[in-house]
Amino acid sequence: MGTMIIDGKACEFDGQKMILQVALENDIEIPHYCYHPGLSIVASCRICLAEVAAPNPRNDNKIELIPKLMPTCQTGASNGMEVYTKSPKSIANQKAVMEYLLINHPLDCPVCDQAGECHLQDYSYLYGRAESRFLEDKIKQPTKDIGPHVKLYSDRCIMCSRCVRFCKEVSGTGEIGVFGRGNVEQIDIFPGVPLDNDLSGNVVDICPVGALLDKDFLFTQRVWFLKETPSIDGLTASGDNIWIHHNEGRVFRVKPRANSEVNKWWISDEIRYGWRFVHAEERLRTPRRMQYGTQIDVDWPKAYAYACDLLRGIAVGGAGSLAVLVSPMLPCEEAYLLGKLARQLDSQATLAVGKVPTRGKDKSFPGGYRVVSEKCPNQRGVRRALETAAPDATVLSYAAFIEKVNDKASGVGGAVITGNYPEDWTDKDLVKALARKTVVMIDTLPTDLVVKADVVLPGATWAEKAGTFENIDGRRQTFEQAIPVIDKARSEGQIILDLMVALGTGTEETYDAKRIREEMGGVFAADVHEPADIEGPEPDMAYVEF
Ligand code: SF4
Ligand code: FES
Repeated sequence: MGTMIIDGKACEFDGQKMILQVALENDIEIPHYCYHPGLSIVASCRICLAEVAAPNPRNDNKIELIPKLMPTCQTGASNGMEVYTKSPKSIANQKAVMEYLLINHPLDCPVCDQAGECHLQDYSYLYGRAESRFLEDKIKQPTKDIGPHVKLYSDRCIMCSRCVRFCKEVSGTGEIGVFGRGNVEQIDIFPGVPLDNDLSGNVVDICPVGALLDKDFLFTQRVWFLKETPSIDGLTASGDNIWIHHNEGRVFRVKPRANSEVNKWWISDEIRYGWRFVHAEERLRTPRRMQYGTQIDVDWPKAYAYACDLLRGIAVGGAGSLAVLVSPMLPCEEAYLLGKLARQLDSQATLAVGKVPTRGKDKSFPGGYRVVSEKCPNQRGVRRALETAAPDATVLSYAAFIEKVNDKASGVGGAVITGNYPEDWTDKDLVKALARKTVVMIDTLPTDLVVKADVVLPGATWAEKAGTFENIDGRRQTFEQAIPVIDKARSEGQIILDLMVALGTGTEETYDAKRIREEMGGVFAADVHEPADIEGPEPDMAYVEF
C-alpha cells in the first residue's frame, strides 16, 4: 500500500498502478484520450501530462520536481509522490493539446452523433481555449463505410489509436491501422478488409470523439434525450452487463456496462444489435382465443377466463395431465411462478426447460472476451427455479418433454408453452406432438405453434420487465425494466399472477421480481448480483425542458 498526493488530495493505492489510474480511482479527473483501462498504454495524446514531484533516492529521498511534464497514464505511482494537474505548466499543456487537436477538427457538433457524450466537447469546455487562432484552411476528409456497423468520419479523428489497439489486442483481427504521416496521417482499414469482426461495435464506444459512429444508431436520437437502464444480455448465455438506452418507450441502442468479472468493457455485435425484435411489427399485442377453428382477438378478462377453463379442463384428466414448457428466455422469477402455478393445478405436472438454441462453438478473443454458442440467457436459472418451485419434480429437457407428450401412456392432455425467442423457434416435432392437445400459449412473436394454440397470451421481452438470469458460468444477475410492455401485452410474470388470481390460487396483483426472489429464497435471495449503479451515470449538465 502506498500513498501519494494528487492536487492536494492524499490517495492510497495498492500494487503497481499508473498515476492516472490512482487519480480515477480517487474521483480525481485528469483529462485523457488515448488511455483506456482495457488497452495497452501508448501515451500518445499528451493531454494527461502533469507536473510530478517524487522522492529522489540520490538526495536523501527529498521530494524533487521532475523538470519535464510527465504522462500520468504511463508514469507509475510511487509512495510519497506529488502530482499537480492544475499547476500553470500543466494547464498550459492541456490548452496547447486541445488547440492542436482542434486545428483540423470540423467543429460540426450540431450534426455529429457524438455530441453530448464527446470527450473533445467536454475537454474543450473544461481544459481548452475559448477562441481559435487557426486562420488557415482545415484539411477535409470524406466519410467512409468501414464495415457493416461502423462509419468513419476521418476529419473528427484525434489519432488516439484506441480503435487500432482494440482491433489488435481485444478482437485480434487487426482491420484498422494508421496510414500516412504528419498532417495526412489518418485511421483507415486495410484495402479490401472491412471492419467485420464479432466485436466491431466496441470501437464506437471507445472512440472518444465522433470519428467512429454506429450506423445502426446514426441520426436516430440526440444522446441527451436517452435514459439508461442497467440490464443483462437477454439473447445469449454470456450474462454480459449492458445498458439499454431508450426514450419514450423505444429502445435506441445497447451499450456495454463495464464489469471486470464478466464482460470487462465489451459486448459482441449480436448482443449490441440483436434487440430489434423488441419493436418488431409482428409482435403479439393482444390476447387471442380459438373460435370455430379461427383465432380471434379478445380482451384480457375474457382471455384469462378462457385460459382458466382450459387449464381446469386439462387438470380434470388427473395427476400428470398438465405439461409446462418453460422457455430459457424467461427470467428465474417467471420460471418459478410458472412451476408454482403448474403444481397448484396438478401435483404431478410435467415441468421442462424449453428449447436451447445454439450456434457454432464458443469463441474466445485475445482480450479475454468470449462469444458463447448458447443463444438463450437463462437455461440454468430456469431449471434451478423450477426445482425450487417443485423440489420433488424431475425437470425434463426439451427433447424429453416432446417424448413424454408423444407417449400416450403418460396421460398428458394439454400444455402451457412459453416462447419469447427473437425469432420463430418452434419445430415440426413440437408442433406435431401438441397437435391434438390443449395448448395455452404465452409468446411474443407469431410462430407455427402460436397460430394453432387454443389461447394466446402476448408476453414481454426482457427489456420490458425485470428479473434474474443465470449465465453460462452460474452467475445470477438481476436486470431492470427499461421500457413499458408493448401495446396490450403483459409480462409473463404478470400473466401468471393474474391467472393465479383468476383460478383462486393466488392473491398478488402486481409482478415484483424482487419480492418473488425473496419468496424463492436460497441462492435467489442470497447469491444474486445486482447492478452496482442502478441509476446510471448522472449527466454533467442539468436538462432543461422548453
Ligand atoms: S477513430 Fe476514434 S478511436 Fe480511432 S484513433 Fe481516431 S479518435 Fe481514436
Ligand atoms: S492519456 Fe496520457 S498521453 Fe494520452
